[in-house]
Amino acid sequence: MKPYYPALIGLLKSTQPEGGNLLEIGCGEGAFLVYAKQNGLRFSGYDIHEHAGLDGGRASRLHHRLTRAGIPSEDARFVGSEEPIPRDTASVDGALSIQVLEHVADLGQLFREIQRVLKPGGTAIHYFPTRRILIDPHSGVPFCHWSQTWRRRLLRVGAFLGKYPAYRKTRGYSHGQFVEEFDRYLERMVHYRSLAEIVELSKACGLSTQLTCLLPARFGAHLHSVCQFFTSVVLIQRKSVCAAGSRLCAA
Ligand SMILES: C[S@@+](CC[C@H](N)C(=O)[O-])C[C@H]1O[C@@H](n2cnc3c(N)ncnc32)[C@H](O)[C@@H]1O
Repeated sequence: MKPYYPALIGLLKSTQPEGGNLLEIGCGEGAFLVYAKQNGLRFSGYDIHEHAGLDGGRASRLHHRLTRAGIPSEDARFVGSEEPIPRDTASVDGALSIQVLEHVADLGQLFREIQRVLKPGGTAIHYFPTRRILIDPHSGVPFCHWSQTWRRRLLRVGAFLGKYPAYRKTRGYSHGQFVEEFDRYLERMVHYRSLAEIVELSKACGLSTQLTCLLPARFGAHLHSVCQFFTSVVLIQRKSVCAAGSRLCAA
């Protein structure tokens, strides 16, 4: 369980209808799907085949984990990155993504798909780091994602401050391998964006947008611009109840 799961559950319970049809986007190996079930929320999930680090065992680890937790393995599946979200139009009450937005190459496509699958009035919650975060959460190295020119040098110098000691212990990585792997990973698989860019894109896709961070509500609503330097922030998107075709808007 990740330390932010309880706060996400709290946020979900305050924004989602009870018994709603909930979808996790980029569910990885299903850790949150299981945690959500243990905490009274039934999610289904999907992820894409092509993400780096995907090995043949990922799908079977996911399905094994779900089955052990009593979740039908059909509740999670993998699709191609160009494929639409595997859900019908206006069928989802709520969607969630955790540490996914910064990996999505075409965020406009994902937001348009979210707008399509959400029911009118439905919400999507995204927990993700922005470009401003001081420590790149993937490598654990400060500032290395801020400059393409300096990235390799920063990874080399900062490796010991970051995840290198853990990678050396668990995977036998050399210092050079660590630098090489994260240089490539940050280049190809991570697409940091600013909050302004994300908010603009979200609105352009017809989703109203609210930002917060996982602090007690009275702080969280105002501190996202500061929080983003230290941790991931939360974007809440809402599809208008007046979306095209809604009977409420017919008048
Ligand atoms: C850092 S992992 C997080 C996985 C999981 N959410 C977790 O918290 O353990 C990022 C995930 O985003 C997924 N991803 C990347 N692009 C995606 C896209 N366009 N649609 C859905 N998932 C995507 C990757 O396959 C990967 O599983």
